[in-house]
Amino acid sequence: MKMKQQASASSQIFLPSTSLLGKVAVITGSSRSIGASIARHMGEQGANVVVNYVNDVAAAEEVVQAIRSHGKGGAIAVRADSSTLEGGKLLLDEAVKTFGKIDILVLNAGIMGSKTLNEVDEAFFDQHFNINVKAPLFMAKAVAPLLPSPGGRIIFFSSSLTTASTVTPNALCYLATKGAIEQIARVLAKDLGSRHITVNTISPGPVDTPQFREGKAQSVLDSIAKQNPFRRLGEPDDIAPIVAFLASQAAQWITGQNIRVNGGFVV
Ligand SMILES: NC(=O)c1ccc[n+]([C@@H]2O[C@H](COP(=O)([O-])OP(=O)(O)OC[C@H]3O[C@@H](n4cnc5c(N)ncnc54)[C@H](OP(=O)(O)O)[C@@H]3O)[C@@H](O)[C@H]2O)c1
Repeated sequence: MKMKQQASASSQIFLPSTSLLGKVAVITGSSRSIGASIARHMGEQGANVVVNYVNDVAAAEEVVQAIRSHGKGGAIAVRADSSTLEGGKLLLDEAVKTFGKIDILVLNAGIMGSKTLNEVDEAFFDQHFNINVKAPLFMAKAVAPLLPSPGGRIIFFSSSLTTASTVTPNALCYLATKGAIEQIARVLAKDLGSRHITVNTISPGPVDTPQFREGKAQSVLDSIAKQNPFRRLGEPDDIAPIVAFLASQAAQWITGQNIRVNGGFVV
């Protein structure tokens, strides 16, 4: 009886929460698609969100208004090129200037170009590594000293294609960058873990976004959709709640992991 009382008393005290109330989250590439869904979900959980865009200010402002109208978290839109070190720094500076701190960094912005070995050139390679690897790594470096210890969160984005046998030859540079980011996340989890900051990777399967649709015929999209047991493409809202959960206190014991959110596309 005594033990039972102790257990229930301790669970009342220590039960970690999925709420993000009062947290500040910076999400690169969050005016549309997966990033926008993450921003909305985190706002619904109470976070103050920095919505990042590079072209589409109207889309970014729409996300900001959706978060503000929900009435829990605040939001601002920041134009910054997240493929450059300067853009990343600007984003972090604006977050601190507006909200006073940063708790969560989600490195979602990325490109998925399509070229085989025969077609690839240096500019294409550099473009992919700049936005998918170099800028996220240096944003992680810049944010690390600012993150709370314990409680800081860094979440990188890879792809379930890094482990799918259906990989195609034109995914050369894209998957080289995603492989690199997965390794960066593993190592940083060991490094920043000493300060009780978690570092994880989210690896979606095919998600119905403009980036994913680009250059694909409907028949190709249909055949990809059939490659998971749900027989549909993923939606941004399939991905976002998992990112919000990983950012929460409830996920304090998950670090160094690559979470494949793909409806069974790769098992
Ligand atoms: N979709 C998939 O099937 C899939 C699968 C696996 C992994 N992923 C990964 O998931 C992440 C998001 O993909 P997505 O499909 O949602 O992308 P998306 O549809 O292309 O959306 C891109 C978002 O990023 C912003 N953005 C693009 N370049 C930027 C830059 N240089 N600086 C700042 N913001 C920038 C865009 O803003 P603007 O509106 O201003 O252009 C937009 O908000 C990527 O890392 C991708 O590799 C996607």
